[in-house]
Amino acid sequence: MSHPTNREPIGVIGTGYVGLVTAAGFAELGNDVWCIDIDEAKIEGLKQGRIPIWEPGLAELVERHRGRLHFSTDLADALEHARLLFVAVGTPPTYSGDADLSAVHSVVAAMPASDRHALVMKSTVPVGTGATIKRVFEEQGKAGFRYVSCPEFLKEGSAVKDFLQPDRVVIGDDGDWAGDAVVDLYAPLEAPLVRTDIKSAEMVKLASNAFLATKISFINEIANVCEETGADVVEVARGMGLDDRIGPKFLQAGIGFGGSCFPKDVTALKQLAGNSGYHFQLLNSVIEVNELQKRRVMAKLEKNLGSLVGKEIGLLGLAFKPNTDDMREASSLVLSARLQAAGARVRAYDPVAEDEARKLIGGVEFKTSAAEVADGADALVLVTEWPEFAELDFSAVAASMRGNTVIDGRNFLDAEKVRDAGLAYEGIGRPALKDREPARTA
Ligand code: UDX
Repeated sequence: MSHPTNREPIGVIGTGYVGLVTAAGFAELGNDVWCIDIDEAKIEGLKQGRIPIWEPGLAELVERHRGRLHFSTDLADALEHARLLFVAVGTPPTYSGDADLSAVHSVVAAMPASDRHALVMKSTVPVGTGATIKRVFEEQGKAGFRYVSCPEFLKEGSAVKDFLQPDRVVIGDDGDWAGDAVVDLYAPLEAPLVRTDIKSAEMVKLASNAFLATKISFINEIANVCEETGADVVEVARGMGLDDRIGPKFLQAGIGFGGSCFPKDVTALKQLAGNSGYHFQLLNSVIEVNELQKRRVMAKLEKNLGSLVGKEIGLLGLAFKPNTDDMREASSLVLSARLQAAGARVRAYDPVAEDEARKLIGGVEFKTSAAEVADGADALVLVTEWPEFAELDFSAVAASMRGNTVIDGRNFLDAEKVRDAGLAYEGIGRPALKDREPARTA
């Protein structure tokens, strides 16, 4: 990648997941980046090269561009050096299901009157937030401050790659210098560009995540019907996914979606619609299906083990997906609580999420390997598809377990291999595996 020297310096407010990846990504493109956060300890750590999140490739990128990345708790540093101030602060859900915009509004309030600056919104916000912020600027005598919506589509675990090779860049603006400047910033990535109005850009983000979540809940319901009818959802998804209009991605049935975005954004869009007087029926079901899906493992365990009282249940993986230590809305949170409520004892192992998990999960015995989890367990549940679980020596696992039940919550393991080791394998939506006919050759 070329490193042009005429790239303009930018500011990034908020050094969380999105802010850091955005900052490091622009540093890779040659920009000087002024990273601002109110958390002094975090900024101090970043100055010393400590990255607070686990994200493949991020630490290397920050290290490589230490000369271009400037960390500070003082907003004035960013305002002095940069015209464009990316906002990447948290917008967590509130009890009402709306996004909590207090951090966004603190940033807006901290901006001075200026004709040469623009806020570029990366945080996921409800449609209409840009309009509200522009009104606030006007009321506060800061009408010269420009506003651009530039939603992020970073997946945890591949966020650096997603930044550098995006499927598309979406920029919503008022057709002024700030929008042009953001277009220029992203130009080296040569990604398809959607330049549109601010509200439409805000909606692209919410609608994209809601659609992907819908796709997952859809295939999960198909999986549940497969269990009733004897079809295998993996085969069904393969057959569906080859249709160009459907596509193969996000058709993996499992024990539900989690993470910092899908649950929050689906609820936020549902709430946004409700606040505007529209009842978004489909999203209610997407959320409900996902909640029920996290619990379906309970019935599978009870079918195999009878009562769960006193049973030792081992969880393989805890993070909401592999390659991250993020535990937000992870299915393991609901599952471990349900298991304990049913009287089971829960042990678990995750290659990287243990520290995060300890903050959120009570009563679980943490082990240091999958083999330790298996030792003496009545059943194993694969929660997160970490690659190392596919490589397990299942004969050794079978020999050390007290029971023989393996529930594959992500349809990730090689079912034949697990069965050949003498274990009772059950996936999600794959009843046909029980009495599968010998493979036929074409
Ligand atoms: C998501 C969006 O993909 C990203 O564009 C957005 O900006 C942030 O939210 P992320 O939360 O990192 O990214 O995870 P993603 O890979 O999309 O997976 C979300 C959840 O869906 C995970 O729990 C995953 O296990 C689950 N999932 C995904 C399925 O259950 N089945 C699938 O087929 C795909």
